[in-house]
Amino acid sequence: MRAVFVSTPSPDDPLSVLEVGDRPEPEVPDGWTTVQVEAVSLNHHDLFSLRGVGLPQERMPMILGTDAAGLDEDGNEVVVHGVVASPGWTGDETLDPKRTLFSELYQGTMAERVAVPRRNLLPKPAELSFAEAACLPTAWLTAYRMLFVRSGLRPGQTVLVQGASGGVATALVVLGRAAGYRVWVTGRSEEKRAAALELGADQAFETGARLPERVDGVMETVGKATWSHSVRSLRPGGVIVTSGATTGYDPGAELNRVFFTQLSVVGSTMGTRDELESLVRMCAVTGVRPVIDVELPLEEACEGFSRMLEGRTAGKIVFTL
Ligand SMILES: NC(=O)c1ccc[n+]([C@@H]2O[C@H](COP(=O)([O-])OP(=O)(O)OC[C@H]3O[C@@H](n4cnc5c(N)ncnc54)[C@H](OP(=O)(O)O)[C@@H]3O)[C@@H](O)[C@H]2O)c1
Repeated sequence: MRAVFVSTPSPDDPLSVLEVGDRPEPEVPDGWTTVQVEAVSLNHHDLFSLRGVGLPQERMPMILGTDAAGLDEDGNEVVVHGVVASPGWTGDETLDPKRTLFSELYQGTMAERVAVPRRNLLPKPAELSFAEAACLPTAWLTAYRMLFVRSGLRPGQTVLVQGASGGVATALVVLGRAAGYRVWVTGRSEEKRAAALELGADQAFETGARLPERVDGVMETVGKATWSHSVRSLRPGGVIVTSGATTGYDPGAELNRVFFTQLSVVGSTMGTRDELESLVRMCAVTGVRPVIDVELPLEEACEGFSRMLEGRTAGKIVFTL
């Protein structure tokens, strides 16, 4: 079957090790099933995989991709929940120390077919296209959990989203606005800031700019490049929810500001199956839809990866089969 995969990661030149070619059909363990993939979305995680982050050589070759929407073995339209809990785990699977995402331990979703645990399948509502549904399990679910499960913020409060055009950032803007938060955004170019305003952000600022007033919460996926600004932008008692660190994991902690202004720093990762179900329903009820920048055939995956590497994003990049 056709697939997008990596055999030998390269920390410095990820695009050079991206392969589009043939891979064996998936092996299907007990309790698992096969999905015929119709659409997958690209996440920064896939670029990290090409760089070898979290992928030891003994797991190679590895098919990339953490998201999928497609058809189950009976032809039903499904969305694939991306967090795979370890056998016997009960409760919130994001807290399972042995949880994994597709393309980490098990082969990923950027292929004609993928093996998945049966419990990871959810019905895809007819209102959502396969491409839209494929954006939900990683970036959009992460944004949902950050905003509605981990932040403790209420509608009407002000949330700063660091980054304007990324997959998680655009989801934060759209979902935050749909839920009644006042959403402020930082973006690196005039074009990206204008696009964020189009999506519903109330105000957009240059990266690192002084804000008109301090905010109740900051949604962080950028990391080192924006961390100090995030800490300085919060009102006393405010919260930073962090789920990623695209530009680096080791900014100065600025502990003096954290304790003196009594900030909360909250980590967040992916979401549960139940939360994905709620997100799917939220899309159906509100009419909110994932922001898709471009849809490309899987064979043209390289173009999608180079857009993301160069920061040429305006929402999600989706590959169709
Ligand atoms: N923990 C989890 O479960 C989870 C789930 C999903 C994603 N993540 C992480 O979240 C991060 C974002 O993922 P994604 O798929 O949304 O990536 P993406 O689509 O590539 O978006 C990258 C974002 O980072 C911003 N950015 C990049 N470099 C920057 C810089 N030097 N200064 C300021 N902003 C910068 C971009 O802002 P502009 O709009 O201004 O270009 C853009 O909004 C990644 O680190 C990913 O691993 C974690």
